[in-house]
Amino acid sequence: MDLYEYQAKHLFGKHGVPVTPGEVCTTGDAAHEATRKFGSPVVVKAQVKTGGRGKAGGVKLADSPDDALAKATAILGMDIKGHTVYKVLVTPAADIAEEYYVSFLLDRANRAFLAMASVEGGVEIEEVAATNPEALAKVRVDALEGCTPEKAREIVAAARFPEAIADQVADVLVRLWDVLVKEDATLVEVNPLVLTPTGEVLALDGKVTLDGNADFRHASHADFTDRENTDAIELRAKEFDLNYVKLHGEVGIIGNGAGLVMSTLDVVAYAGEEFGGIKPANFLDIGGGASAEVMANGLDIVLNDPEVKSCFVNVFGGITACDAVANGVLQALDMLEAKGVKLTKPIVARIDGNNAVEGRRILTEANHPLVELVETMDDAARCVAQLAAGK
Ligand SMILES: Nc1ncnc2c1ncn2[C@@H]1O[C@H](COP(=O)(O)OP(=O)(O)OP(=O)(O)O)[C@@H](O)[C@H]1O
Ligand SMILES: [Mg+2]
Repeated sequence: MDLYEYQAKHLFGKHGVPVTPGEVCTTGDAAHEATRKFGSPVVVKAQVKTGGRGKAGGVKLADSPDDALAKATAILGMDIKGHTVYKVLVTPAADIAEEYYVSFLLDRANRAFLAMASVEGGVEIEEVAATNPEALAKVRVDALEGCTPEKAREIVAAARFPEAIADQVADVLVRLWDVLVKEDATLVEVNPLVLTPTGEVLALDGKVTLDGNADFRHASHADFTDRENTDAIELRAKEFDLNYVKLHGEVGIIGNGAGLVMSTLDVVAYAGEEFGGIKPANFLDIGGGASAEVMANGLDIVLNDPEVKSCFVNVFGGITACDAVANGVLQALDMLEAKGVKLTKPIVARIDGNNAVEGRRILTEANHPLVELVETMDDAARCVAQLAAGK
């Protein structure tokens, strides 16, 4: 998960990386108030998860509370590369003597981490890398050894930071490494890291990508979930711990295994062409050993999507055999009805694999009014698309 600048700086602060204080505002009035509190001048910064905010007019200096109100009002609601600005960060303006760049990132190809640093920061680092590659130092950091003070000095020397601030920059690097390790991040980047005329080194911007696989170790990271920019159904699916992505078609999809679900999306989109462009409404992988409860949660999410007109349950029985899957589907429907969910949308089921004959027999005998059993994936896709089209 990528974080907003203000969230990244919160983690920086927690691990002792020097940052300016800041306040997140959603209105011009709040920016006015924050500016009164900090004292002018301040910088008003669009909080969006994309680069080049400054160039797009999303980072503005304000020299009074009224000015901050005007700048915040102008920036809020702005579209920056397809991202709407819902929040701005108001932060005291720093005097800048020099702008630098530092980062740590996961270097998968080399099974290590990579530190990058440059005394030519502030601008887009890709540009430095392309036009002046010697100005961007790249130093391998071993995952087990980490960024020790010695390693930090090596990075500082490779990037040719001025000797007078070498210790300070090395200290910032060690602390940024701490952010990476202790918060389970795969990227920590500061652009610009600045030197003030009084000799202070400060992180004026921050970018952090957290490793979602480590979420279970960080209860507090749940607060970083971006509610404004996440689909309401996706948020609900997350509460059920489901692997769900909202799309914008008419056929709800439930399958087991990401590969099978991906191909289900394809066959439904293909079959849907015949019925005026019917498309899949979501991706939902309920995984290998899915219980009736997980199936019920999946059906609950998918059938409650107002865009969904019909639902395709496409399961390949492996470890969980098809008879268990068939019983699971029937139990799931009972569970939903018991919960008071009104079931009206048709469900097309295709089950194959381990114990398929028995699974199909169970579904056929149950003769549930909403469930239609179709033997092959292509036929099932055609059937579910036709039902979604109301034909
Ligand atoms: N607190 C601040 N005080 C003074 N100047 C600032 C401050 N924050 C940012 N700036 C100036 O604005 C420039 C752009 O800010 P920042 O790096 O945060 O955004 P950006 O680089 O345009 O966006 P992104 O990093 O998303 O590409 C900085 O290089 C710096 O010169
Ligand atoms: Mg920046």
